Amino acid sequence: MKKLMAANWKMYKTWDEAETTARELVGLTADKLPEDREVLVFPPFTALKGVSNALDADGFFAGGQDYYIEKEGAFTGEISPMMLKDAGAAYGLTGHSERRHVLGEGDEFVGQKTAYGLECGLKVILCVGEKIDERRAGKVEEVLERQLRAGLADVPRDVAPDRLSVAYEPVWAIGTGEVAGPAEIVDAHGFVRKILVSVFGENANEMRILYGGSVKPDNCGEIIALDNVDGVLVGGASLQSESFSRIVLAGSAIANKV
Ligand code: 13P
Repeated sequence: MKKLMAANWKMYKTWDEAETTARELVGLTADKLPEDREVLVFPPFTALKGVSNALDADGFFAGGQDYYIEKEGAFTGEISPMMLKDAGAAYGLTGHSERRHVLGEGDEFVGQKTAYGLECGLKVILCVGEKIDERRAGKVEEVLERQLRAGLADVPRDVAPDRLSVAYEPVWAIGTGEVAGPAEIVDAHGFVRKILVSVFGENANEMRILYGGSVKPDNCGEIIALDNVDGVLVGGASLQSESFSRIVLAGSAIANKV
């Protein structure tokens, strides 16, 4: 299974800035990218076409940060999976904590989006993660299981495992500089794997589980080597090409030689 090194640029960057950063990223990493790694960038919608064109190298992909659950129609402000694909996206993101907790998306809607994106031919990354009060109350597994079961409810049981990934992003670690500890990450990822296997059977062992939350160039090598960590989803430290390129190569033989 290839590790997926993903950048979520959230609501940052103009088209021009995004395209420039994507080109720099390819320049810094494409000829050194280990065979067992892939790179994915989620730019804002307005920059998707430019970024997907700029990521013109083997193993590099673009994705859409969100989409609605219809092909087209009178849904002002929304965008469909087909439109994302038309602009060069191979991936879609669902259930990000900012969409759940800032924009008010519920578990069921996240599940509808996950299934619809897959049906439309996107690869989908479903994000899950607990808030700090839920962790303090000992409810991490309860929250993850609820978000996963609802998020996956309508996904066909025989979905190809390379088309569905889960990102574990503890809300308290996002944008705070407070990265989850190795034991917390291993426990949560092991639990996510267990739920995935209970839903999809052995196929789930080939699904990627990404970690997100204050991943930086200097902690990524350790995180990416942990059990059941099949990639990372990076916010702040992915915005500069130099920083994200060090994350993309972190812990690899090439990064160790540099
Ligand atoms: P930070 O890397 O800025 O903590 O953001 C993580 C995230 O939300 C990625 O989707």
